[in-house]
Amino acid sequence: MWGKSFLLLFISGGVVGILGQQFFTPGNDIRCARMWDQLGFEGNNVDCDQNERKTNLGGMDCKAESVIIRNGCTLTVYDKTGCKRTIERSSSCLWGWNRRIAAACCECDGCQGEVAVRDLSCARLYQNLKCSSCSGFRLEINPLDAVPHLQIFNNEISSLVVKPGCSLSVWEGQNFTGNMEIFTGGVDSLMTQGWNDRVSSLKCNCQ
Ligand SMILES: *[C@@H]1O[C@H](CO)[C@@H](O)[C@H](O)[C@H]1NC(C)=O
Repeated sequence: MWGKSFLLLFISGGVVGILGQQFFTPGNDIRCARMWDQLGFEGNNVDCDQNERKTNLGGMDCKAESVIIRNGCTLTVYDKTGCKRTIERSSSCLWGWNRRIAAACCECDGCQGEVAVRDLSCARLYQNLKCSSCSGFRLEINPLDAVPHLQIFNNEISSLVVKPGCSLSVWEGQNFTGNMEIFTGGVDSLMTQGWNDRVSSLKCNCQ
């Protein structure tokens, strides 16, 4: 990323000081991601906001060649054939994805962020890491829900978020059998707890 900076010096009564100091970086106003139709962050651009799913890029359809992604955010991009890729870092050249992006979805802050907790009734479970809704399914769990068998979601859960004041109990087996664990708050990756793709039944409770 290039930077442009300027120092404005002033002399007043023998005092030399720095009046203004400003560092210009393209896109320090970006909330999630910005795509440009030229290499090196030049030309026309389009923004993808936090948790925004852009199914139509308008004039930028299949034109993006470079992208800036805010720290902590990820941009999931899709081409016309439905292929997708998750981009985690700014890139002055999209290589294999140059002029291929037809849709995009941007997310920040994972399971710990404000967005993950919004409209939460008891818990939300995700197929992918970091409570990502850009790809994979998500499952809403209400207070007092007891799910003895997750059906197609069985052994597929990788991250979750539980509403403050509530707790989620999960079991390795159907019908609340086998190993059990209680989760609260946001968990970006169930791998760290050894529960990735292992949940088969669950209960959610709020105080
Ligand atoms: C879970 O309980 C249901 C209903 O009692 C039963 O039909 C099913 O076989 C049980 N599943 C397992 C894996 O024990």
